[in-house]
Amino acid sequence: MRMFDIIDKKRHGLALTEEEIAYFVKGVTCGEIPDYQTSALLMAICFKGMTEQETAELTLAMAGSGEEMDLSHLRGIKVDKHSTGGIGDKTTLILGPLMAACHLPVVKMSGRGLGLTGGTIDKLEAIPGLSCALSMEDFFRQVEELGVAVASQTASLAPCDKKLYALRDTTATVDCIPLIASSIMSKKLASGSDAIILDVKYGSGAFMKTKEEAEELAEIMVSIGEHCGRRMDYVISDMDQPLGQAVGNAIEVNEAVLALKGEAPEDLMDVVYQLGAKMLVAGEIVKTEKEAYPLMKEHIQDGSALAKFREMIKRQGGDPSFMDTKELLPLGPFSEEICAEQAGIVTKVCADGIGHTALVLGAGRETKDEAIDPGSGVFVCKKVGDPVQKGDVLARIYSGSRELVESAKKECYQAFVIE
Ligand code: URA
Repeated sequence: MRMFDIIDKKRHGLALTEEEIAYFVKGVTCGEIPDYQTSALLMAICFKGMTEQETAELTLAMAGSGEEMDLSHLRGIKVDKHSTGGIGDKTTLILGPLMAACHLPVVKMSGRGLGLTGGTIDKLEAIPGLSCALSMEDFFRQVEELGVAVASQTASLAPCDKKLYALRDTTATVDCIPLIASSIMSKKLASGSDAIILDVKYGSGAFMKTKEEAEELAEIMVSIGEHCGRRMDYVISDMDQPLGQAVGNAIEVNEAVLALKGEAPEDLMDVVYQLGAKMLVAGEIVKTEKEAYPLMKEHIQDGSALAKFREMIKRQGGDPSFMDTKELLPLGPFSEEICAEQAGIVTKVCADGIGHTALVLGAGRETKDEAIDPGSGVFVCKKVGDPVQKGDVLARIYSGSRELVESAKKECYQAFVIE
């Protein structure tokens, strides 16, 4: 078999066989296929697409390119959730402890962010002392004893995806449905959960720009998961404006703590409850989604979900004392208020623009080895539909650098449309 023929076949819009896909994945994983040929095939896939069969075969081959976790020794139905990525999405930080309080074990492997803001691991590691580099033994023990652990994805989980993703990121081949579906699902399948609930986002801050594309992506991922015997369900959610008010790392942890205290913005809790309801049904904790809502609300009101988060932080080496202070985790120290220059109604808070502002402030990374500034980020004070007067604060921006605050001001202001 030759990589040249595989590229040529896809370039002419033909479907690849299981053997050709396996040859490609094996060659990428062991470094035998040069990056220029891999990139050429990725671009051909972007132009010509893949059938559902090819996408499923690519996913399975990538899932099998490294270690596949066996969670069968852990009690209960293990339910994972995955978000396709968005600005201000801190749902995992809230759902992990909340599901554990509802007696649903959460075994969560997450990634660091590459792009506008940090990933779940970057957000959690904004908590002083906390580490997500757990040994498998500690990871499983914590799930058994506490019901929730969040660990960083090991390098041995779907290593082929790691190589492909790095190339896609630099060859403009990220936003392609079969490539996104196989990338996400290969990691989810290799992580070993019995059920996977997807949060597929659409809008300016998401890969999928329309609801229809998001539905198409969700359906493909569901069919791959079901084909592999996993329980699957999904939520489609809007990412035209940031989710909640906080965008960054420490600032998102603070919003997650407020959520677990019952003080979070409604749009954030809507997505949390929709995902949580599907997780609780998939995990057979409740029979219907309707039953899940009062259960989740009860565990927030009685403080048990917050107590799980506190314990999770402690067990992962962090200091949870910030949770008892009014300010929570420190931000800045440099900050600036972004104010309305005219009165009207906010008609747009561009998620992409706010995400890019957070990146400029130091909350994200453009290359994978860049350091993140945990205290930097954006607090969005006005959301779509809010009336504003001239001079009202639209957002507060925070950074460890005065210069970065200065350079982010304009972009932050431009993310708001007031009409
Ligand atoms: N997240 C992933 O893990 N892979 C993609 O391709 C897109 C989002």
